[in-house]
Amino acid sequence: MFKSGLRLMLAGVVLASGTAQAAGVAADGQKIVMQGDGSGAPCLACHGMDGAGNDAGGFPRLAGLSAEYLTKQMQDYNAGTRVSPIMQPNVDNLSEQQILDVAAYYASQPVPAVKASSASEEVLALGEKLALRGDWSKHVPSCNSCHGPGNAGVGSAFPGIAGQHPTYIRQQLKAWQSGSRHNDPVQLMTGVAERLTDAEIEAVATYLAAQPVTVVEGGQ
Ligand code: HEC
Ligand code: HEC
Repeated sequence: MFKSGLRLMLAGVVLASGTAQAAGVAADGQKIVMQGDGSGAPCLACHGMDGAGNDAGGFPRLAGLSAEYLTKQMQDYNAGTRVSPIMQPNVDNLSEQQILDVAAYYASQPVPAVKASSASEEVLALGEKLALRGDWSKHVPSCNSCHGPGNAGVGSAFPGIAGQHPTYIRQQLKAWQSGSRHNDPVQLMTGVAERLTDAEIEAVATYLAAQPVTVVEGGQ
């Protein structure tokens, strides 16, 4: 009930915005990945040609994420509802069509294999609890109630977070806490992030990063 209720509510929000998107051309997107938007480093310098990203750099994996989700994020950087001084300059010269193209390219890339975690059992157990069951004593719903089975993502609104880099997951939860990322529909993520302690953020990021991605949303 709770889970489908949340998703229905969000589907309403997304439909109400009523943006029918044109299709991206992955082959054209591949050129942008190699060249960038003309003003800075090419995408591959940080996200890789294959979209694997890089944990130490805080560069997210883009491979296999939904093309619509990736498109929305680039539009949000350009609109200023998602703030990142490192990322913002990389897409501000792209046209709407180029944004669709580069999103289509990265969405079509296979998800790289996930590394096992060397974290303690205690940390992983806390992470698993938050990811799969939540903590109702603090009104924290489980991550998978929105991010779907295996936290592998649902449609274009709920991104896959299993197999994402831990540094990036941690940074995003902090960005919602501080308000520098406020692009989530009806503040769904703000409500989750603001209830988590630093130790819980660390645990859930560590757990999620080590989960294999069983379902790929990018439409391969
Ligand atoms: C200098 C390194 C760098 C370059 C070059 C770069 N990015 Fe990024 N990218 C980042 C970082 C760091 C983030 C996370 C920023 C944040 O916290 O919002 C990010 C985030 C993103 C996201 C959001 C992903 C998500 O899961 O929400 C997309 C989409 C993206 N980049 C696409 C691109 C594209 C397309 C290009 C090339 C045109 C590009 N990036 C070039 C560093 C880079
Ligand atoms: C009530 C629904 C809901 C719940 C519960 C939820 N999320 Fe989210 N989450 C979202 C939505 C919606 C987005 C996409 C926001 C946007 O459009 O930019 C998101 C995005 C994210 C992202 C950004 C991914 C990316 O590629 O940029 C991370 C990380 C994340 N959530 C982590 C979590 C974690 C960890 C939990 C559990 C502790 C959780 N979420 C629980 C709705 C939810």
